[in-house]
Amino acid sequence: MILRAHPFPGRDIAAGGGAASSVSLWPLPTTSRALGFRLVMTHRKSEIATPPSWVEIDLNALRANIRAFQDALAGRAEPILVVKADAYGHGDGIVARAAAQEGVRRLAVAHVHEAENVRTAVPEAWILLLGAAPPESVPTLLECRVTVSIVSFEHGRALSEAATRAGRQLPAHIKVDTGMGRLGFSWETAAADAAALFDLPGLDPVGVFTHFARVTGEADDPAARQIERFRAVADALDRRAGRRLFRHASNSRAFLLHPEWDFDGVRPGLALYGYGADSPDGRFYTRPVLQWKTRVVQARRVPAGFPVGYDSTFITPRPTTLAILAVGYADGYPRALSGKGVVLLGGRRCPVLGRVSMNWTAVDAGPDADIAVGEEAVLIGRQGHVEVWADELAQLCDTIPYEIVTRIFPHLPRWPVGG
Ligand SMILES: Cc1ncc(COP(=O)(O)O)c(C=O)c1O
Repeated sequence: MILRAHPFPGRDIAAGGGAASSVSLWPLPTTSRALGFRLVMTHRKSEIATPPSWVEIDLNALRANIRAFQDALAGRAEPILVVKADAYGHGDGIVARAAAQEGVRRLAVAHVHEAENVRTAVPEAWILLLGAAPPESVPTLLECRVTVSIVSFEHGRALSEAATRAGRQLPAHIKVDTGMGRLGFSWETAAADAAALFDLPGLDPVGVFTHFARVTGEADDPAARQIERFRAVADALDRRAGRRLFRHASNSRAFLLHPEWDFDGVRPGLALYGYGADSPDGRFYTRPVLQWKTRVVQARRVPAGFPVGYDSTFITPRPTTLAILAVGYADGYPRALSGKGVVLLGGRRCPVLGRVSMNWTAVDAGPDADIAVGEEAVLIGRQGHVEVWADELAQLCDTIPYEIVTRIFPHLPRWPVGG
C-alpha cells in the first residue's frame, strides 16, 4: 500500500476516553469496539495502521455539549440523545459512553443493529428505537431491553404478538405524525387508533412523541400547529392510559428555540455534534466534535496551463503546488465539492481543484507552498488558525451538515481524542 512508505507520526490519542497519551496505533485491541471505534478487521495491519483518512472525535467538546443540554434543561426534562446513523457518523459507541459518563441515560437510535451496538457500549442505557421495528426483531429487542416506537395499530399488534410468543412485554412509545408526513399514527385519528394499543398483552405503552417538519422560531412558527395537535393527542392518550405518558417532541432546533416544548424529554441530534447552536447568546451553545483528516500522498510543482483531474475541468492559471490527498467520494467526501471545496493544509485554506475523484482529490497548496508527502490535511476541522466545518461544506455543495457527517465512510477509523 502506497502510504506504508510514508511516515505516520504518533500523536495524542485517548482511546476510550482515558487520559490523553501518546500511543502507537499498533498493536490494536482485538475488540475494536472496546475502544469505541470500528475497523474493518479484514484489513491488513498496514492498512489499519495507516488509514488513508481518519476521523477524530473530540471528547472534551462532546462532553461539554452534553453538559450544555443538561444546564439548559436544569433537570426539568431529560435529554434523549439521538445516536442513530452511527451517532451521525461520530461512532455510536464513543458517543453513548460519553453520554453515560455525563450521566445521560436516554439514547435514541433508528434501527435494531444500532440498538444492539449501543446496548453493548452502555449496558445500563435506556434505548428508544425511533424506527418501525419489524416483528421478527422482537427477540433481539427484548434481549437488548429496547423501548420501541409504535407507528400504527397493525404495527403494535404485530410486535405485541411477537412479544407475547416470547412470554414478555415490550415497553413502547406511540409515534404521532402531527405534520411531518412520515412515520406514525395520523394526528386526526391517533387518539382513537392508538387507544386499543393499551389492551394488547405484549405491549406496555409508556410514552408518546412526535417529530417536527420545520421549526423557524418565528411568531408564526409552523411547528406550533404540530404542537397543538400533539398536545391534544397526548392528553387523550393519557386519559385512556389512566396515567401520564412520557412526552417528547423537540429536535435540536425546537430545543434551542422553544423551551416551552420541552415536555418530559427532548431529542437533540445535530446540536449534540456541534452544529446549529453556535451562538453564545442562545439557550445553549455547542461546538463541533468531529474532525476528518487525511494526508498528502503526492506534492507536485506544476506550471501554468496544467490540467487537473477528470475532464480537465481546471487548468492552472499560474505555476503552483498541487497536493494530492488520499480522499475521494468513495470515502464520503462529496463529489459536489469538485472545484468548490476547501481543505486545510500548511495552516491555510486551500481550494479543491478540478473533480473530486473516487479515492483522490487535488488541492491548490499555493505557489510558495512547502508541502511534503505525508503532511496532514484537514477536510473538516481546524488547523492552526484556520477552520472548515461540515456546515460550510454543506453550503458549498447545497446540502445539509447532517449529510456531510453521516456519509463519511463508516469503515474509516473513529478515534476519540482528549477527554
Ligand atoms: C425522530 C427524530 N427525532 C429527533 C431527531 C434529531 O433531530 P436533529 O438532529 O435535527 O436534532 C431526528 C433526526 O433526524 C429524528 O428523526
